[in-house]
Amino acid sequence: MPTIKHLIDNNREWARQQVERDPEFFQRLVGQQSPEYLWIGCSDSRVPANQIVGMDPGELFVHRNVANQVIQTDFNCLSVIQFAIEALKVKHVLVVGHYGCGGVKAAIESKPHGLVDHWLYPIRDIYREHAVELEALDEQAQIDRLCELNVIEQVKNLAKTNMVQEAWDRGQELNIHGWVYRLDNGLVNDMNVSVASREGLEQVYHVYHKNLPKGVR
Ligand code: CO
Repeated sequence: MPTIKHLIDNNREWARQQVERDPEFFQRLVGQQSPEYLWIGCSDSRVPANQIVGMDPGELFVHRNVANQVIQTDFNCLSVIQFAIEALKVKHVLVVGHYGCGGVKAAIESKPHGLVDHWLYPIRDIYREHAVELEALDEQAQIDRLCELNVIEQVKNLAKTNMVQEAWDRGQELNIHGWVYRLDNGLVNDMNVSVASREGLEQVYHVYHKNLPKGVR
C-alpha cells in the first residue's frame, strides 16, 4: 500500500516527466484554463475523468459526486455548471455514470446507510418511475439499467437549469451528453440522449425569460 511519501515522490516524478516531454507545459497552464468540456461523474475511484478520455490537465473541467447527480439545490454542482458555462464557455457537458455504481445500488437497498440515503433519494424516485421495467430484471441487471436511467435523468436535470437554458437563449453552443462507463472493459457506452436545445424538455421545465420576445421561448 502506498504511503503519503510515495505520493509526493510520484508527484515529483510526474512533474519531471511532463517537463521532459513538453518544457512549456506548466507555464502554458499558469496563464489560463480553457477547457471545452465539463465532466460530471461519480466520485468512484475507478472512474478517473481525464484518463478515460485521454485528456491533459487544462482540457477537462470536472465535478464529481456520489452517483453523478445534478440536484437543483446542490450549490456546489450548480456553481461548477455556472462557471463552466458562463466563464469557461465549455461546448460540451458529459454526464458520466458507471455500471455497478455503489451509490445507485445503495439507493435501492432496503437498509439504511446514514446521511447518504438523503443524497440518494432522487435515485429511488427514478426507480419508482421505471419500476415495471426494472422489476422484470435480475438484481445485477436492475442496478446496471438503473445506472443508465440515472444518467438519462441527470442529462434532463442539467437541461432544466437556468444556466443551461440561458446559454441556449443567447445562442451559445452547448451540448449535453449521457454516457455510462464499464468498469470491466474501460469503455463508455453512449446513451444517445445528447441535447443541444430545449426541444424534448417538457414545457413545465422551460424557464421563462421576460426579456425575450414571446416567440423565442
Ligand atoms: Co458510482
